[in-house]
Amino acid sequence: MKVTVVILAGGLGTRMKSNTPKLLHNLLGKTIIERTIDSVLSINPSKTIVVVNKESKNLIDLLSKYNLSFAFQEKPLGTADALMSAKEQIKDDDLLLLLNGDTPLIKPQTIEDFINNFHSQGCNLSLLSFIASDPSEYGRIIRDETNKVTAIVENKDCNEKEKQIREVNSGIYLMDQKAFSLANKIKINTKKGEYYITDLISLCVKEGLKVSTLLAKGSNELSGINTRNELANATTILRQRVIKNFIDSGVTFIDTSSVVIEPEVKMGIDIIIYPNVIIEGKSVIGSSTKIYPHTRIMDSVIEEGVTIKDCSVIEMSHIKAGASIGPFAHLRPQSIIGENSKIGNFVEIKKSNLGKSVKASHLSYIGDADVGEGTNIGAGTITCNYDGKSKHKTIIEKNVFVGSDTQFVAPVRIGENSYIGAGSTITKDVPPNSLAISRTNQKNILEWAKKKKDKNY
Ligand code: UD1
Ligand code: CA
Repeated sequence: MKVTVVILAGGLGTRMKSNTPKLLHNLLGKTIIERTIDSVLSINPSKTIVVVNKESKNLIDLLSKYNLSFAFQEKPLGTADALMSAKEQIKDDDLLLLLNGDTPLIKPQTIEDFINNFHSQGCNLSLLSFIASDPSEYGRIIRDETNKVTAIVENKDCNEKEKQIREVNSGIYLMDQKAFSLANKIKINTKKGEYYITDLISLCVKEGLKVSTLLAKGSNELSGINTRNELANATTILRQRVIKNFIDSGVTFIDTSSVVIEPEVKMGIDIIIYPNVIIEGKSVIGSSTKIYPHTRIMDSVIEEGVTIKDCSVIEMSHIKAGASIGPFAHLRPQSIIGENSKIGNFVEIKKSNLGKSVKASHLSYIGDADVGEGTNIGAGTITCNYDGKSKHKTIIEKNVFVGSDTQFVAPVRIGENSYIGAGSTITKDVPPNSLAISRTNQKNILEWAKKKKDKNY
Protein backbone atom coordinates (compact mmCIF):
# COMPACT_ATOMS: atom_id res chain seq x y z
CA MET A 1 0.00 0.00 0.00
CA LYS A 2 1.17 3.50 -0.80
CA VAL A 3 2.24 5.86 1.95
CA THR A 4 1.83 9.62 2.27
CA VAL A 5 4.30 11.07 4.73
CA VAL A 6 3.58 14.14 6.84
CA ILE A 7 6.54 15.68 8.64
CA LEU A 8 5.73 18.23 11.34
CA ALA A 9 8.07 21.19 11.17
CA GLY A 10 5.86 24.09 12.15
CA GLY A 11 6.74 24.35 15.84
CA LEU A 12 8.60 27.24 17.40
CA GLY A 13 11.43 25.22 18.93
CA THR A 14 11.79 27.70 21.80
CA ARG A 15 13.64 25.21 24.00
CA MET A 16 16.74 25.61 21.80
CA LYS A 17 17.15 29.23 22.92
CA SER A 18 18.31 30.27 19.49
CA ASN A 19 17.66 32.81 16.74
CA THR A 20 17.91 29.93 14.28
CA PRO A 21 14.78 27.76 13.92
CA LYS A 22 15.32 24.45 15.70
CA LEU A 23 15.09 22.25 12.63
CA LEU A 24 17.74 24.31 10.84
CA HIS A 25 20.40 23.53 13.41
CA ASN A 26 23.29 21.51 12.10
CA LEU A 27 23.64 17.82 12.85
CA LEU A 28 26.96 16.59 11.48
CA GLY A 29 26.91 18.57 8.26
CA LYS A 30 23.21 18.69 7.42
CA THR A 31 20.27 20.30 9.17
CA ILE A 32 18.07 18.29 11.51
CA ILE A 33 15.15 18.48 9.08
CA GLU A 34 17.23 17.30 6.10
CA ARG A 35 18.42 14.27 8.05
CA THR A 36 14.81 13.40 8.96
CA ILE A 37 13.71 13.82 5.34
CA ASP A 38 16.62 11.74 4.00
CA SER A 39 15.56 8.81 6.19
CA VAL A 40 11.92 9.05 5.24
CA LEU A 41 12.47 9.39 1.49
CA SER A 42 14.23 6.03 1.47
CA ILE A 43 10.84 4.32 1.74
CA ASN A 44 9.68 5.98 -1.50
CA PRO A 45 6.52 7.67 -0.27
CA SER A 46 3.91 8.55 -2.88
CA LYS A 47 3.87 12.05 -1.41
CA THR A 48 5.79 13.87 1.34
CA ILE A 49 4.24 16.90 2.98
CA VAL A 50 6.16 19.13 5.35
CA VAL A 51 4.09 21.27 7.71
CA VAL A 52 5.72 24.66 8.17
CA ASN A 53 4.78 27.96 9.77
CA LYS A 54 4.68 31.47 8.35
CA GLU A 55 8.27 32.17 9.31
CA SER A 56 9.66 29.16 7.48
CA LYS A 57 11.06 30.85 4.37
CA ASN A 58 14.63 29.69 5.04
CA LEU A 59 13.46 26.18 5.71
CA ILE A 60 11.42 26.05 2.49
CA ASP A 61 14.35 27.44 0.48
CA LEU A 62 16.65 24.83 1.96
CA LEU A 63 14.23 22.02 1.17
CA SER A 64 13.54 23.14 -2.40
CA LYS A 65 16.05 20.57 -3.67
CA TYR A 66 13.73 17.77 -2.52
CA ASN A 67 10.47 16.73 -4.16
CA LEU A 68 8.16 17.85 -1.33
CA SER A 69 4.86 19.59 -0.76
CA PHE A 70 4.37 22.16 1.97
CA ALA A 71 1.38 22.81 4.21
CA PHE A 72 1.12 26.02 6.21
CA GLN A 73 0.05 26.02 9.81
CA GLU A 74 -1.43 29.42 10.63
CA LYS A 75 -0.56 29.37 14.34
CA PRO A 76 1.52 26.89 16.34
CA LEU A 77 -1.48 25.27 17.97
CA GLY A 78 0.06 21.87 18.53
CA THR A 79 0.87 18.66 16.70
CA ALA A 80 -2.76 17.74 15.88
CA ASP A 81 -3.42 21.19 14.47
CA ALA A 82 -0.23 20.87 12.43
CA LEU A 83 -1.43 17.60 10.94
CA MET A 84 -4.85 19.04 10.15
CA SER A 85 -3.26 21.82 8.14
CA ALA A 86 -1.98 19.15 5.74
CA LYS A 87 -5.40 17.47 5.48
CA GLU A 88 -6.33 18.69 2.00
CA GLN A 89 -3.07 17.41 0.56
CA ILE A 90 -3.12 13.89 2.00
CA LYS A 91 -3.91 11.30 -0.64
CA ASP A 92 -7.24 9.62 0.04
CA ASP A 93 -6.23 6.02 -0.51
CA ASP A 94 -2.84 6.15 1.13
CA LEU A 95 -1.64 5.08 4.53
CA LEU A 96 -0.43 8.06 6.51
CA LEU A 97 3.01 8.07 8.12
CA LEU A 98 3.25 10.96 10.52
CA LEU A 99 6.44 12.00 12.22
CA ASN A 100 8.09 14.91 13.96
CA GLY A 101 10.76 16.79 12.05
CA ASP A 102 12.99 16.71 15.13
CA THR A 103 13.67 12.95 15.09
CA PRO A 104 16.54 12.82 12.61
CA LEU A 105 18.33 9.67 13.77
CA ILE A 106 15.62 7.25 12.69
CA LYS A 107 16.99 4.57 10.38
CA PRO A 108 15.19 3.73 7.13
CA GLN A 109 15.12 0.06 8.21
CA THR A 110 13.15 0.96 11.34
CA ILE A 111 10.54 2.79 9.25
CA GLU A 112 10.25 -0.23 6.99
CA ASP A 113 9.87 -2.59 9.95
CA PHE A 114 7.21 -0.28 11.36
CA ILE A 115 5.22 -0.35 8.12
CA ASN A 116 5.51 -4.15 7.84
CA ASN A 117 4.40 -4.54 11.43
CA PHE A 118 1.38 -2.32 10.75
CA HIS A 119 0.30 -4.58 7.92
CA SER A 120 0.89 -7.82 9.79
CA GLN A 121 -1.09 -6.55 12.80
CA GLY A 122 -3.94 -5.44 10.57
CA CYS A 123 -4.54 -2.31 12.61
CA ASN A 124 -5.93 1.17 12.01
CA LEU A 125 -3.33 3.07 13.98
CA SER A 126 0.13 2.12 15.13
CA LEU A 127 2.78 4.03 17.00
CA LEU A 128 6.47 3.45 17.42
CA SER A 129 7.53 3.46 21.06
CA PHE A 130 10.87 3.08 22.79
CA ILE A 131 12.31 2.80 26.27
CA ALA A 132 13.85 6.12 27.25
CA SER A 133 16.60 6.31 29.86
CA ASP A 134 15.16 9.71 30.76
CA PRO A 135 11.48 9.77 29.76
CA SER A 136 10.79 13.27 31.02
CA GLU A 137 10.58 15.00 27.61
CA TYR A 138 8.24 12.41 26.12
CA GLY A 139 4.62 11.28 26.19
CA ARG A 140 4.20 8.05 28.18
CA ILE A 141 2.54 4.96 26.72
CA ILE A 142 -0.41 3.93 28.91
CA ARG A 143 -1.52 0.28 28.77
CA ASP A 144 -4.44 -1.56 30.32
CA GLU A 145 -4.24 -4.77 32.35
CA THR A 146 -4.16 -6.83 29.13
CA ASN A 147 -1.16 -4.76 27.99
CA LYS A 148 -3.13 -3.05 25.24
CA VAL A 149 -2.24 0.56 24.63
CA THR A 150 -5.05 2.89 25.65
CA ALA A 151 -3.53 6.36 25.58
CA ILE A 152 -0.47 8.59 25.47
CA VAL A 153 -0.12 11.02 28.33
CA GLU A 154 2.21 13.98 27.98
CA ASN A 155 4.72 14.61 30.74
CA LYS A 156 2.91 17.72 31.96
CA ASP A 157 -0.32 15.75 32.36
CA CYS A 158 1.19 12.65 34.00
CA ASN A 159 0.33 11.66 37.57
CA GLU A 160 3.13 10.33 39.77
CA LYS A 161 2.52 6.73 38.72
CA GLU A 162 2.48 7.57 35.02
CA LYS A 163 5.71 9.52 35.40
CA GLN A 164 7.45 6.24 36.31
CA ILE A 165 6.61 4.73 32.91
CA ARG A 166 9.67 4.55 30.70
CA GLU A 167 8.02 3.36 27.52
CA VAL A 168 7.52 6.55 25.54
CA ASN A 169 6.07 7.86 22.30
CA SER A 170 8.57 8.50 19.50
CA GLY A 171 6.14 10.82 17.68
CA ILE A 172 6.04 8.42 14.72
CA TYR A 173 2.63 7.03 13.75
CA LEU A 174 1.04 5.09 10.92
CA MET A 175 -2.67 5.32 10.35
CA ASP A 176 -5.33 4.46 7.84
CA GLN A 177 -7.99 6.92 6.70
CA LYS A 178 -10.43 5.67 9.35
CA ALA A 179 -8.08 6.56 12.19
CA PHE A 180 -7.11 9.83 10.51
CA SER A 181 -10.76 10.86 10.18
CA LEU A 182 -10.98 11.00 13.99
CA ALA A 183 -8.18 13.58 14.24
CA ASN A 184 -10.60 16.50 13.87
CA LYS A 185 -12.33 15.38 17.08
CA ILE A 186 -9.24 16.11 19.15
CA LYS A 187 -10.00 18.72 21.82
CA ILE A 188 -7.67 21.43 22.99
CA ASN A 189 -5.40 20.60 25.92
CA THR A 190 -6.27 23.40 28.27
CA LYS A 191 -3.00 23.28 30.20
CA LYS A 192 -0.97 24.11 27.14
CA GLY A 193 -3.56 25.59 24.79
CA GLU A 194 -2.58 23.11 22.07
CA TYR A 195 -4.19 20.26 20.16
CA TYR A 196 -2.22 17.08 20.83
CA ILE A 197 -2.01 14.39 18.14
CA THR A 198 -1.27 11.99 20.98
CA ASP A 199 -4.97 12.22 21.95
CA LEU A 200 -5.78 10.34 18.75
CA ILE A 201 -4.75 7.10 20.46
CA SER A 202 -7.43 7.18 23.15
CA LEU A 203 -9.99 8.45 20.61
CA CYS A 204 -9.31 5.49 18.33
CA VAL A 205 -9.45 3.05 21.25
CA LYS A 206 -12.81 4.50 22.33
CA GLU A 207 -14.19 4.19 18.81
CA GLY A 208 -13.20 0.53 18.76
CA LEU A 209 -10.44 0.87 16.16
CA LYS A 210 -7.45 -1.41 16.38
CA VAL A 211 -4.41 0.35 17.83
CA SER A 212 -1.02 -1.30 18.10
CA THR A 213 2.52 -0.33 19.05
CA LEU A 214 5.92 -1.41 17.90
CA LEU A 215 8.58 -1.15 20.56
CA ALA A 216 11.83 -0.17 18.85
CA LYS A 217 14.94 -2.10 19.86
CA GLY A 218 17.28 0.72 20.83
CA SER A 219 16.37 4.12 22.15
CA ASN A 220 19.13 6.03 20.37
CA GLU A 221 17.58 6.47 16.98
CA LEU A 222 14.24 7.75 18.23
CA SER A 223 15.34 10.54 20.51
CA GLY A 224 13.78 13.88 19.65
CA ILE A 225 15.78 17.08 19.64
CA ASN A 226 14.23 19.88 21.68
CA THR A 227 17.21 21.34 23.53
CA ARG A 228 20.90 22.00 22.86
CA ASN A 229 21.67 19.16 25.20
CA GLU A 230 19.61 16.77 23.08
CA LEU A 231 21.29 18.15 19.95
CA ALA A 232 24.69 17.43 21.50
CA ASN A 233 23.58 13.89 22.40
CA ALA A 234 22.19 13.28 18.91
CA THR A 235 25.46 14.50 17.39
CA THR A 236 27.38 12.02 19.53
CA ILE A 237 25.06 9.16 18.61
CA LEU A 238 25.31 9.90 14.88
CA ARG A 239 29.07 10.46 15.07
CA GLN A 240 29.58 7.11 16.78
CA ARG A 241 27.25 5.38 14.31
CA VAL A 242 29.27 6.68 11.36
CA ILE A 243 32.62 5.66 12.92
CA LYS A 244 31.29 2.21 13.84
CA ASN A 245 30.25 1.65 10.20
CA PHE A 246 33.73 2.60 8.97
CA ILE A 247 35.39 0.35 11.55
CA ASP A 248 33.22 -2.51 10.32
CA SER A 249 34.18 -1.77 6.73
CA GLY A 250 37.96 -1.71 7.27
CA VAL A 251 39.12 1.63 8.68
CA THR A 252 41.43 1.89 11.73
CA PHE A 253 40.90 4.68 14.25
CA ILE A 254 43.53 5.43 16.87
CA ASP A 255 41.03 7.38 18.99
CA THR A 256 37.35 7.11 18.08
CA SER A 257 36.35 9.64 20.73
CA SER A 258 37.98 12.63 19.05
CA VAL A 259 37.29 12.00 15.38
CA VAL A 260 34.38 13.60 13.51
CA ILE A 261 33.30 12.13 10.20
CA GLU A 262 30.13 13.31 8.55
CA PRO A 263 27.69 10.67 7.31
CA GLU A 264 28.07 11.54 3.61
CA VAL A 265 31.82 10.78 3.61
CA LYS A 266 32.96 7.69 1.72
CA MET A 267 36.09 5.67 2.55
CA GLY A 268 38.02 2.69 1.23
CA ILE A 269 39.83 0.13 3.36
CA ASP A 270 43.08 0.04 5.36
CA ILE A 271 42.85 3.73 6.11
CA ILE A 272 44.41 4.85 9.38
CA ILE A 273 42.96 7.87 11.13
CA TYR A 274 44.72 9.52 14.04
CA PRO A 275 43.07 11.60 16.79
CA ASN A 276 41.30 14.89 16.19
CA VAL A 277 40.72 14.39 12.49
CA ILE A 278 37.60 15.97 10.96
CA ILE A 279 36.29 14.83 7.59
CA GLU A 280 33.32 16.73 6.25
CA GLY A 281 30.85 16.97 3.42
CA LYS A 282 31.07 14.66 0.44
CA SER A 283 34.73 13.81 0.93
CA VAL A 284 36.04 10.55 -0.47
CA ILE A 285 39.09 8.91 1.11
CA GLY A 286 40.94 6.25 -0.88
CA SER A 287 42.25 2.99 0.54
CA SER A 288 45.55 2.81 2.44
CA THR A 289 45.58 6.53 3.14
CA LYS A 290 46.96 7.76 6.46
CA ILE A 291 45.59 10.87 8.09
CA TYR A 292 47.65 12.17 10.99
CA PRO A 293 46.26 14.26 13.87
CA HIS A 294 44.49 17.63 13.80
CA THR A 295 43.59 17.62 10.13
CA ARG A 296 40.37 18.88 8.58
CA ILE A 297 39.21 17.72 5.17
CA MET A 298 36.16 19.27 3.51
CA ASP A 299 34.42 18.14 0.31
CA SER A 300 37.65 16.71 -1.09
CA VAL A 301 38.74 13.63 -2.95
CA ILE A 302 41.81 11.88 -1.59
CA GLU A 303 42.95 8.97 -3.71
CA GLU A 304 44.73 5.79 -2.58
CA GLY A 305 47.88 5.66 -0.53
CA VAL A 306 48.03 9.34 0.34
CA THR A 307 49.71 10.54 3.53
CA ILE A 308 48.31 13.61 5.19
CA LYS A 309 50.59 14.79 7.94
CA ASP A 310 49.57 16.64 11.08
CA CYS A 311 47.60 19.89 11.19
CA SER A 312 46.64 20.22 7.53
CA VAL A 313 43.48 21.84 6.14
CA ILE A 314 42.15 20.55 2.83
CA GLU A 315 39.15 22.25 1.24
CA MET A 316 37.36 21.21 -1.97
CA SER A 317 40.52 19.76 -3.45
CA HIS A 318 41.66 16.60 -5.18
CA ILE A 319 44.78 14.77 -4.06
CA LYS A 320 45.94 12.01 -6.35
CA ALA A 321 47.39 8.65 -5.39
CA GLY A 322 50.59 8.42 -3.39
CA ALA A 323 50.87 12.15 -2.64
CA SER A 324 52.06 13.48 0.70
CA ILE A 325 50.60 16.60 2.26
CA GLY A 326 51.73 18.57 5.33
CA PRO A 327 52.44 18.93 8.13
CA PHE A 328 50.77 22.35 8.36
CA ALA A 329 49.68 22.52 4.73
CA HIS A 330 46.62 24.39 3.51
CA LEU A 331 44.96 23.31 0.29
CA ARG A 332 42.28 25.84 -0.59
CA PRO A 333 39.43 25.17 -3.04
CA GLN A 334 40.14 23.83 -6.51
CA SER A 335 43.61 22.54 -5.85
CA ILE A 336 44.63 19.41 -7.69
CA ILE A 337 47.73 17.65 -6.42
CA GLY A 338 49.25 15.14 -8.85
CA GLU A 339 50.28 11.58 -8.19
CA ASN A 340 53.22 11.16 -5.80
CA SER A 341 53.57 14.90 -5.35
CA LYS A 342 54.77 16.31 -2.08
CA ILE A 343 53.35 19.40 -0.42
CA GLY A 344 55.30 20.12 2.72
CA ASN A 345 55.42 22.34 5.80
CA PHE A 346 53.58 25.65 5.69
CA VAL A 347 52.67 25.48 2.01
CA GLU A 348 49.42 27.06 0.82
CA ILE A 349 47.93 26.09 -2.51
CA LYS A 350 44.88 27.70 -4.10
CA LYS A 351 43.07 26.98 -7.38
CA SER A 352 46.12 25.32 -8.87
CA ASN A 353 46.77 22.20 -10.84
CA LEU A 354 49.98 20.38 -9.94
CA GLY A 355 51.15 17.48 -12.09
CA LYS A 356 52.82 14.23 -11.08
CA SER A 357 55.76 14.23 -8.68
CA VAL A 358 55.80 17.96 -8.08
CA LYS A 359 57.59 19.01 -4.91
CA ALA A 360 56.81 22.11 -2.87
CA SER A 361 58.31 21.12 0.41
CA HIS A 362 58.53 24.32 2.44
CA LEU A 363 56.94 27.71 3.06
CA SER A 364 55.35 28.55 -0.29
CA TYR A 365 52.20 30.12 -1.73
CA ILE A 366 51.00 28.75 -5.03
CA GLY A 367 47.79 30.34 -6.30
CA ASP A 368 46.15 30.31 -9.74
CA ALA A 369 49.00 28.22 -11.11
CA ASP A 370 49.60 25.21 -13.33
CA VAL A 371 52.72 23.30 -12.39
CA GLY A 372 53.99 20.57 -14.70
CA GLU A 373 55.17 17.08 -13.82
CA GLY A 374 58.48 16.72 -11.98
CA THR A 375 58.89 20.40 -11.15
CA ASN A 376 60.59 21.34 -7.90
CA ILE A 377 59.40 24.46 -6.11
CA GLY A 378 62.07 25.75 -3.72
CA ALA A 379 61.41 26.97 -0.20
CA GLY A 380 59.71 30.34 0.07
CA THR A 381 58.42 30.51 -3.51
CA ILE A 382 55.48 32.82 -4.04
CA THR A 383 53.14 33.32 -6.96
CA CYS A 384 52.18 37.00 -6.94
CA ASN A 385 48.79 36.29 -8.48
CA TYR A 386 46.89 39.41 -7.45
CA ASP A 387 47.53 42.92 -8.72
CA GLY A 388 44.99 44.53 -6.43
CA LYS A 389 42.20 44.19 -9.00
CA SER A 390 42.38 40.82 -10.70
CA LYS A 391 43.98 37.42 -10.37
CA HIS A 392 46.54 36.23 -12.92
CA LYS A 393 47.96 32.85 -13.80
CA THR A 394 51.41 31.41 -13.33
CA ILE A 395 52.27 28.54 -15.62
CA ILE A 396 55.34 26.49 -14.77
CA GLU A 397 55.91 23.69 -17.24
CA LYS A 398 57.37 20.29 -16.44
CA ASN A 399 60.74 19.54 -14.84
CA VAL A 400 61.46 23.13 -13.87
CA PHE A 401 63.77 23.77 -10.94
CA VAL A 402 62.60 26.81 -9.02
CA GLY A 403 65.28 28.10 -6.64
CA SER A 404 64.32 29.13 -3.14
CA ASP A 405 62.72 32.49 -2.46
CA THR A 406 61.47 33.06 -5.97
CA GLN A 407 58.54 35.34 -6.76
CA PHE A 408 56.53 34.81 -9.93
CA VAL A 409 54.76 38.04 -10.86
CA ALA A 410 51.77 36.72 -12.79
CA PRO A 411 50.80 36.43 -15.56
CA VAL A 412 53.98 34.57 -16.39
CA ARG A 413 55.01 31.33 -18.06
CA ILE A 414 58.12 29.25 -17.34
CA GLY A 415 59.17 26.85 -20.11
CA GLU A 416 60.01 23.21 -19.42
CA ASN A 417 63.37 22.09 -18.07
CA SER A 418 64.25 25.64 -17.01
CA TYR A 419 66.05 26.76 -13.89
CA ILE A 420 65.18 29.79 -11.81
CA GLY A 421 68.02 31.17 -9.73
CA ALA A 422 67.30 31.42 -6.02
CA GLY A 423 66.01 34.81 -4.89
CA SER A 424 64.69 35.83 -8.32
CA THR A 425 61.69 37.98 -9.04
CA ILE A 426 60.36 36.67 -12.33
CA THR A 427 58.31 39.20 -14.25
CA LYS A 428 58.81 37.92 -17.80
CA ASP A 429 58.20 34.56 -19.49
CA VAL A 430 61.15 32.16 -19.43
CA PRO A 431 61.76 30.06 -22.57
CA PRO A 432 62.26 26.28 -22.17
CA ASN A 433 65.68 24.95 -21.15
CA SER A 434 66.86 28.35 -19.85
CA LEU A 435 68.25 29.74 -16.65
CA ALA A 436 66.45 32.83 -15.40
CA ILE A 437 68.06 34.85 -12.69
CA SER A 438 67.06 38.33 -11.61
CA ARG A 439 69.04 39.42 -8.63
CA THR A 440 71.82 41.98 -8.36
CA ASN A 441 75.33 40.65 -8.32
CA GLN A 442 76.81 40.21 -4.91
CA LYS A 443 79.38 42.77 -3.78
CA ASN A 444 81.84 41.94 -0.98
CA ILE A 445 83.35 44.98 0.79
CA LEU A 446 86.54 43.69 2.31
CA GLU A 447 87.49 44.59 5.88
CA TRP A 448 84.22 46.54 6.26
CA ALA A 449 83.32 44.97 9.60
CA LYS A 450 86.70 45.73 11.07
CA LYS A 451 86.51 49.37 10.01
CA LYS A 452 83.08 49.64 11.52
CA LYS A 453 84.39 48.40 14.83
CA ASP A 454 87.38 50.77 14.79
CA LYS A 455 85.22 53.78 14.02
CA ASN A 456 82.82 52.66 16.74
CA TYR A 457 79.85 53.07 14.41
C1 UD1 B 1 5.93 15.17 20.95
C2 UD1 B 1 4.79 14.29 21.46
C3 UD1 B 1 5.32 13.37 22.53
C4 UD1 B 1 6.46 12.54 22.00
C5 UD1 B 1 7.55 13.43 21.40
C6 UD1 B 1 8.56 12.58 20.67
C7 UD1 B 1 2.76 15.65 21.24
C8 UD1 B 1 1.76 16.46 21.95
N1 UD1 B 1 3.76 15.14 21.96
O1 UD1 B 1 6.34 16.00 22.04
O2 UD1 B 1 4.29 12.50 22.98
O3 UD1 B 1 6.99 11.72 23.04
O4 UD1 B 1 6.99 14.36 20.46
O5 UD1 B 1 9.68 13.30 20.31
O6 UD1 B 1 2.64 15.45 20.06
N2 UD1 B 1 5.00 21.11 15.59
C9 UD1 B 1 4.27 21.77 14.63
N3 UD1 B 1 3.30 22.63 15.01
C10 UD1 B 1 3.00 22.85 16.31
C11 UD1 B 1 3.73 22.16 17.31
C12 UD1 B 1 4.74 21.30 16.90
O7 UD1 B 1 4.51 21.60 13.44
O8 UD1 B 1 2.07 23.64 16.58
C13 UD1 B 1 6.09 20.22 15.17
C14 UD1 B 1 7.46 20.65 15.69
O9 UD1 B 1 8.14 21.45 14.77
C15 UD1 B 1 8.15 19.32 15.94
C16 UD1 B 1 7.01 18.33 16.15
O10 UD1 B 1 5.83 18.96 15.72
O11 UD1 B 1 8.92 18.90 14.82
C17 UD1 B 1 6.87 17.91 17.61
O12 UD1 B 1 6.67 19.04 18.42
P1 UD1 B 1 7.41 19.19 19.81
O13 UD1 B 1 6.97 20.46 20.42
O14 UD1 B 1 8.85 18.95 19.64
O15 UD1 B 1 6.74 17.97 20.62
P2 UD1 B 1 7.32 17.26 21.89
O16 UD1 B 1 7.12 18.11 23.07
O17 UD1 B 1 8.69 16.79 21.62
CA1 CA C 1 10.14 17.16 20.06
